[in-house]
Amino acid sequence: MRELGIGLIGTGFMGRAHALAFRNVSAVFELPLKLKFAALADADPQRARQCAEAWGFDSAHSDWQQLIDDPKVNLIAITTPNHLHYPMAMAALAAGKPVYCEKPLAVSLEQANAMRLAAKAAGVVTRVGYNYQHNPMIGLARELIQNGELGDLISFQGEFSEDFMADAASPWSWRCDAAHAGGALADLGSHLLAMARYLMGDVEAVCADTQTVHAQRPATAGSQEQRTIAVDDQVHALLRFANGARGTFSSSWLKHGYKNHLSFEISGTQGTLAFDQERLNELRLFRAGQEGFQRLLAGPNLPGYAAFSPAAGHQLGYNELKTLEVHDLVMALAGLSQGGTDFDQAWEVERLATAIRLAANESRWVRIEEV
Ligand SMILES: NC(=O)c1ccc[n+]([C@@H]2O[C@H](COP(=O)([O-])OP(=O)(O)OC[C@H]3O[C@@H](n4cnc5c(N)ncnc54)[C@H](O)[C@@H]3O)[C@@H](O)[C@H]2O)c1
Repeated sequence: MRELGIGLIGTGFMGRAHALAFRNVSAVFELPLKLKFAALADADPQRARQCAEAWGFDSAHSDWQQLIDDPKVNLIAITTPNHLHYPMAMAALAAGKPVYCEKPLAVSLEQANAMRLAAKAAGVVTRVGYNYQHNPMIGLARELIQNGELGDLISFQGEFSEDFMADAASPWSWRCDAAHAGGALADLGSHLLAMARYLMGDVEAVCADTQTVHAQRPATAGSQEQRTIAVDDQVHALLRFANGARGTFSSSWLKHGYKNHLSFEISGTQGTLAFDQERLNELRLFRAGQEGFQRLLAGPNLPGYAAFSPAAGHQLGYNELKTLEVHDLVMALAGLSQGGTDFDQAWEVERLATAIRLAANESRWVRIEEV
């Protein structure tokens, strides 16, 4: 069996999630490739060494270019802050290596465009971490929509809110810096835009409003030094889809009480579908003529769920979605899958986000083809 040498860059929240998914995927699925944990990189050399040992990687680097150059590495997984996606992915693509990059793709549309063109030129598999689409219940939602269960689509009401920045004393981080692609729209909203495109198709035009509620935050936790914040804390937008449906979109990292509220209601002429990532094993479906919503619960009738459990209602979690994403990636690397978000589709998400920022800055409707 052909071996796949994984090179993982970053050991934070997503570095661990990727490591777990690469570890678990072989236990859950029969894979066409044998995964080898070739190399790990982190800017902090001690952390790189510790995580490489704990997570079973053969070598540790503090210089990510060394990881990309390592001949034992033939897949580059990027889990660093957003502004590093571009240089790392471009270097990987220049070396002809496939890339699995965290979202959002880049910090500007120009970078995102260069990345998708470089991926096309390199002719290698690329994937971006829009993991929520890999939820079997989202697959079911897409199937129900495509099978016409909702009739003709009329509306999409989507929201992705969390509250991890709700406290005005939450300190500055790279997520608060525009040059690092910070802001609620880049951080959370990009997931919802990817989801809206996945379920509803192309968006044609947007109008939007963005707001920075807390214009200053402590430079570090508890510090008296303040840093100015220029990125959005919340964004609200109207969407017009190519299929004629209309939509609302909002995203906030200030909304008290919400921890992972990626949610939507999609209505058509024959019904409504509702989902909330905080209850990720459920869909609510209303068909015209019913008395009330039907609650659909994840079970082994869905292949992505069956891979983990033969028993209905035992529930998947966030890390299982990441494992399903990695499964799709490995199948794509073996030429056996077309699923998942590649650099081209992730660039479309960046176009939408850019159009939303432009619409907000200029207080007008923006057609996506303008950007
Ligand atoms: N798909 C999702 O659900 C999801 C969730 C959270 C974060 N993310 C994305 O994952 C990425 C990372 O976010 P995070 O929350 O894991 O951040 P984090 O701050 O927890 O981790 C970032 C890691 O990158 C490392 N790093 C920074 N500079 C580096 C360099 N020059 N070379 C090597 N390593 C370097 C840091 O040491 C750290 O280990 C971001 O793009 C973010 O948007 C995606």
